[in-house]
Amino acid sequence: MTEKLAVDGGNPVRTSPWPSWPVFGREEEEIILDVLRSGQWWAVGGRRVPEFESAFAAMQDAKHAVAVTNGTAAIEIALRALGIGCGDEVIVPPYTFIATASSVLAVGATPVFADIEPTNLNLDPAAAEAAITERTKAIIPVHIAGCPADMDGILALAAKHHLIVIEDAAQAHAAEWRGRKVGALGDCGTFSFQASKNLNAGEGGCIVTNKEDVADKCWSVHNVGRTRSGKWYEHHVLGGNFRMTEWQAGILLAQLSRLPEQTERRTSNALRLTALLDQIPGIRTLPPDERVTRHAYHLYVFRYDSSEFGGRSRGDFLKAMGAEGVPVSAGYVPLYKEIVFQRKTAGVGSWCKAGRHVDYSRVACPVCEQVCDDAVWLFQTMLLGDAADMDDIASAIEKIRAAWTA
Ligand SMILES: Cc1ncc(COP(=O)(O)O)c(C=O)c1O
Repeated sequence: MTEKLAVDGGNPVRTSPWPSWPVFGREEEEIILDVLRSGQWWAVGGRRVPEFESAFAAMQDAKHAVAVTNGTAAIEIALRALGIGCGDEVIVPPYTFIATASSVLAVGATPVFADIEPTNLNLDPAAAEAAITERTKAIIPVHIAGCPADMDGILALAAKHHLIVIEDAAQAHAAEWRGRKVGALGDCGTFSFQASKNLNAGEGGCIVTNKEDVADKCWSVHNVGRTRSGKWYEHHVLGGNFRMTEWQAGILLAQLSRLPEQTERRTSNALRLTALLDQIPGIRTLPPDERVTRHAYHLYVFRYDSSEFGGRSRGDFLKAMGAEGVPVSAGYVPLYKEIVFQRKTAGVGSWCKAGRHVDYSRVACPVCEQVCDDAVWLFQTMLLGDAADMDDIASAIEKIRAAWTA
């Protein structure tokens, strides 16, 4: 006799709440009051933004950081600063948030999708190489879920074909590739501090780099085209106002002090969860890669095989898990299938008149499509719980499988 599932009216595996997010305390309260009372609320002349830039650059093993309004703007600024525009092609993975590709469109360039690797769900260097044309100027590997992409393969490819590398590290605060933090492994890298991110100020973003000229150009683009040493009304390049506020930087400084402990906790819980899930037929965890010396675990992703769950669909599984008190998500669809891409083709319409015609309705990345069909996501906040919380996740899956295979 199997236990009745909560989705069918049985008792759920858990009713207790998951760890709340964001985490904050006296540090955040004090710093926000301090910014308030100082009357210094914007970055111009402020001290919190430069303090945060130094601390974040150091944390990500980078020489320079430019704090900006959000992670989408960070990619757009990096592209503009590096001279990418109309007629240029930029290779991106399709398993990512819209901003990775939309910011390429925003600067008038053309995103070209290349498939991902099934092991880490990140851009496959071989697929990226096959997508290179004479117009290709840059490549944007995304460290999805907080797992670094194969930076050995991507940097070798970039060197061979003289391509710019912008890492989209929006989900990868503190992640490491071969002992070095991500972000400044290529020409520059971009981060997000939007509410769900492991480092959070509600909104916010940053560009990190080891190259002083790249940092200066990003600084100009983010500050309406000014230069660091120029006059107030002296605009050298086309930029915008993408300045972070002192409020955001204050919160981020306080949040930064919490990150190491949170990252440790997410890691140890993820390892425990993997050991548990590896015992369950029909659940495939992602294999470890020894070159990934630190996974940020913004998401915990596993693959669902319906044939081991009585043929029940992933949609049914997601619903059943939610009813058991374990919220999970299906995650992304292949980005080129998004309406914005299906309705228009790059190189025509309002985007940009120059460049190669790309018909996104003809793009197919089979690995990404399979992953979008069978992946299941758990969010980083669940990994801030304790060992018993991980046991509940595994118990819910086992309960569902037992009921559906009885
Ligand atoms: C991979 C990726 N790139 C870019 C972004 C954009 O960041 P933001 O939401 O701060 O604009 C996000 C965040 O949602 C993301 O997950």
